Amino acid sequence: MSTNALSAAAITANLKTRFVGQRVLYYPSVASTMEAARQEVLKGTPEGTVIIAGEQTAGRGRLQRSWLTPEGNVALSVILYPALTQLPSMIMLASLAVVHCIRAVAGLDPCIKWPNDIMINGRKVCGILIESDVRQEKVQSVVIGIGLNVSLHPADYPDIQDIATSLSRESGRDVPAVDIVRTLLVETERLYMELAAGRSLFEEWRDNLITLGQSVRVSSGKNVYEGIAESVAPDGSLVLRDNKGNHIPIVAGDVTLRF
Ligand code: BTN
Repeated sequence: MSTNALSAAAITANLKTRFVGQRVLYYPSVASTMEAARQEVLKGTPEGTVIIAGEQTAGRGRLQRSWLTPEGNVALSVILYPALTQLPSMIMLASLAVVHCIRAVAGLDPCIKWPNDIMINGRKVCGILIESDVRQEKVQSVVIGIGLNVSLHPADYPDIQDIATSLSRESGRDVPAVDIVRTLLVETERLYMELAAGRSLFEEWRDNLITLGQSVRVSSGKNVYEGIAESVAPDGSLVLRDNKGNHIPIVAGDVTLRF
């Protein structure tokens, strides 16, 4: 089997999880795994179902951006049905699962740029998109979408070559995509079970953020804020201190580090 061959059978074979990844739907090519996951939720799919794509033709990023997924990279969505109180922790769970997985499989040392970009040596290796459906204070579903550059050659994509990287580029070797996916699913379930047992992921997530203490520019909706990223709150929001000493809580946005 080639190191990058992904299939439902290769992912699920003897996978050491109880439910995450026990049902895997593999699409050689799909518009977006987020959309396919949404369709599965409507059909009442079991918790832990994973949608994974060989390539995406209309991958979605945060803040209405598009996401490039050529073959050889990982694009997947995991469907969970958490309690409402666990919702703010989903960002932390997803980023920590990716960080643990990259450390274990590729031996690299990633960190998190708030809220959930995974970076290696200052470049983005993974993006995470979380879509939740909450009605009448009940979570109907959460879809965690993870796009991880495994064998991407950034030089082939001039628009992103200075800001993106991949596991193979950083490690200088082929990294098996199947191993990445299987470890990611095991870590996702492990962290989810820790949440269920009442453990907080907040401190570990905070301690892996490169953003804190940095001078940053944050775009949030139509607003742009500049200042020092002072702290994060347990609900995942970022607290920025501007040059007048005001503390500005930011729930969603895009951070640029101003070194
Ligand atoms: C970001 O903007 O950083 C988030 C990118 C998320 C991309 C992943 S790839 C799998 C899933 N399907 C999508 O269409 N998007 C997410």
